[in-house]
Amino acid sequence: MKTLTLILTFSIISVFSQATLLLTDPPQPNESFKPNLTQHQQNAGCSYTVTIRTSCSSPSYTRDRISLSFGDAYGYQVYVPRLDDPSSRTFERCSTDTFQINGPCTYQICYLYLYRSGYDGWIPESVTVSGYNSQPVTFYYNAFIPAGIWFGFDYCRGYLPSTAAM
Ligand SMILES: *[C@@H]1O[C@H](CO)[C@@H](O)[C@H](O)[C@H]1NC(C)=O
Ligand SMILES: *[C@@H]1O[C@H](CO)[C@@H](O)[C@H](O)[C@H]1NC(C)=O
Repeated sequence: MKTLTLILTFSIISVFSQATLLLTDPPQPNESFKPNLTQHQQNAGCSYTVTIRTSCSSPSYTRDRISLSFGDAYGYQVYVPRLDDPSSRTFERCSTDTFQINGPCTYQICYLYLYRSGYDGWIPESVTVSGYNSQPVTFYYNAFIPAGIWFGFDYCRGYLPSTAAM
């Protein structure tokens, strides 16, 4: 009986903690988000791998300008003013683009935003970031990125997404 109670309690806890991960939450626009330009210019001591899958419902490719920013709960932030390559087709429908990015060292990455400007449009499926001090995190978009606003996720005040939830 005790074991059963324990098992029940455990499964209630795991259901609850899964709910608080909010991994199924859709991405949101964030009007108050601004990348920290001071920090961007200061240090680039760590390297990150960013893997972006573009949805099969996205336009065949995009010429839009795409910026990216992510960071931890302690104020360390990576900002990439331009991810797209103006000289070639990027973010083609159904494709995966991988970027090596240098930036300030962060602890566990818990927020990520994309910014788009242009007229082609773009629907990323997911963005995965891995770095030295941070477990890989995948942010599931599956959404059209609106133009002119930082659009993404902030889990920093809740439980962090972990590899277990990927
Ligand atoms: C928007 O970004 C600000 C600044 O990073 C952050 O403090 C805030 O929690 C974010 N809002 C939401 C709804 O995630
Ligand atoms: C931007 O980064 C710098 C250097 O890390 C920090 O001192 C400053 O407080 C940050 N500014 C904001 C608005 O977070």
